[in-house]
Amino acid sequence: MTGPVTAEVRTLIEYQRLCYVATTGPDGEPNLSPKGSLKVLSDHELAFADMASPNTVANLRADPRLEINVVDPFLRRGYRIKGVGTVVDDPGLLAVVGEGLGHDYPVRAAVRIAVTEVRPVDSPVYLFTSAPAEEVHAMWQDNYGYHRDGAGGGPS
Ligand SMILES: Cc1cc2nc3c(=O)[nH]c(=O)nc-3n(C[C@H](O)[C@H](O)[C@H](O)COP(=O)(O)O)c2cc1C
Repeated sequence: MTGPVTAEVRTLIEYQRLCYVATTGPDGEPNLSPKGSLKVLSDHELAFADMASPNTVANLRADPRLEINVVDPFLRRGYRIKGVGTVVDDPGLLAVVGEGLGHDYPVRAAVRIAVTEVRPVDSPVYLFTSAPAEEVHAMWQDNYGYHRDGAGGGPS
């Protein structure tokens, strides 16, 4: 039996890596911050590095529930992932979450996530048009390209 982190979810995470992690503060205040170190540990576990995330870590110590969004900005689709996060200092896991970042900034801890739910999320482009994923991807590559070149415009 396969866990919630299917091959498709793994592929998107390994390609994107950048995700947004939502936690809840003690007074119920929402906290959302980016993490570029998301790793797939297994079909039911993820992890990311704490290098500079004091609020996320403090929140998880008090309330381990979290939600992660990881989205391909060109493909306009991704996943909403719910789970339970544990802050750990196991040196083996610290090495795993620090891999492939292109730098060796100190990793203070790792957050190991037991994934409870994965839901796909699609842009309305898939709801309101019949454009295939390849076409959407090409359109948005062009769109970002126009903006970077300062040429303006592009499909929106
Ligand atoms: C693109 C990007 C990737 C980041 N990746 C990480 C990361 O993997 N781990 C980390 O601790 N901080 C990372 N940060 C920095 C935190 O998001 C930032 O320090 C944030 O303010 C932490 O807030 P928090 O304590 O509420 O989580 C990243 C920031 C950006 C913009």
